[in-house]
Amino acid sequence: MPKPVRAAVFPVAGRGTRFLPATKASPKEMLPVVDKPLIQYAVEEAVAAGATKLVFVTGSSKRAIEDHFDTDPELERALTASGRKDLLESIQRIVPPGVTCIYIRQGEPLGLGHAVLCARPVVGDEPFFVHLADDLIAGNPPCLAQMAEDYATHGNSIVAVEEVPRESTSSYGIVGLDDNGSRSQCISSIVEKPKPEDAPSTKAVVGRYLLVPAIFDKLATTGRGAGGEIQLTDAIADLLAEQAVHAYAFEGRRFDCGSKLGYLQATVAYGLEHEGVGDAFRAYLRELVQV
Ligand code: UTP
Repeated sequence: MPKPVRAAVFPVAGRGTRFLPATKASPKEMLPVVDKPLIQYAVEEAVAAGATKLVFVTGSSKRAIEDHFDTDPELERALTASGRKDLLESIQRIVPPGVTCIYIRQGEPLGLGHAVLCARPVVGDEPFFVHLADDLIAGNPPCLAQMAEDYATHGNSIVAVEEVPRESTSSYGIVGLDDNGSRSQCISSIVEKPKPEDAPSTKAVVGRYLLVPAIFDKLATTGRGAGGEIQLTDAIADLLAEQAVHAYAFEGRRFDCGSKLGYLQATVAYGLEHEGVGDAFRAYLRELVQV
């Protein structure tokens, strides 16, 4: 039986150029979808999958993330004094009991692979999740919990995948596999941002990984790849030369909140489901599209 996964790494040191100017001084992971920042959805998903050690790999302009997960006694006192118990609970729930947050600085944004390697000293010799908060996935059970359940059956690294149009392969890591239609399958190759004509399939890696600690040795020797960055995909390709890696076709809907359109779609989808404003928002959208 493989070890349970207790650590989750959140690389949040990217520049977020696609969302400028909103991300000039504030990290894209703090963009709210309805009433919670993306990074809070990420933490909730990891905790629901069993993570108790949350490792944030941060860069410049990321202080807001640390502040968000810190306690704020002054705000708590003010909410208590004004009798806003609901709001008080909503901020006290942000980090559940028994969960630790650790922050590591990535000195320079050298790429996702480099960001993950920065987490090595605190993850140690344990399997771990990697969660990219700008890929928001609505799933029940949540995507990482689905992957943890799959991992318990084979103990190999897993990348979450979904079908993309062939013309989009150059925006993703793409896996090669003999598709037998099952949700979890061993991959035969993985390549970062291939041209449509070179892509081994149309199954794209999205922002959820479950990795064994052997990936760190691979990352330590991975040179710069696509876009001049140290790519996690390249290290996974090296790992694949020695051990099995699975692609997991998760059940759920992904929103690319690093892009403006994906972010707006997520806001509409989560807004419609929201307990407090969902009904009023639906009525508003109906009225809007009738015009
Ligand atoms: P992206 O490819 O989305 O890059 O990174 P980005 O810089 O965040 O955004 P754009 O493309 O400029 O708009 C994928 C993930 O890897 C993290 C990002 O924070 C994001 O979660 N990342 C990327 C790092 O932590 N460090 C890096 O050096 C690069």
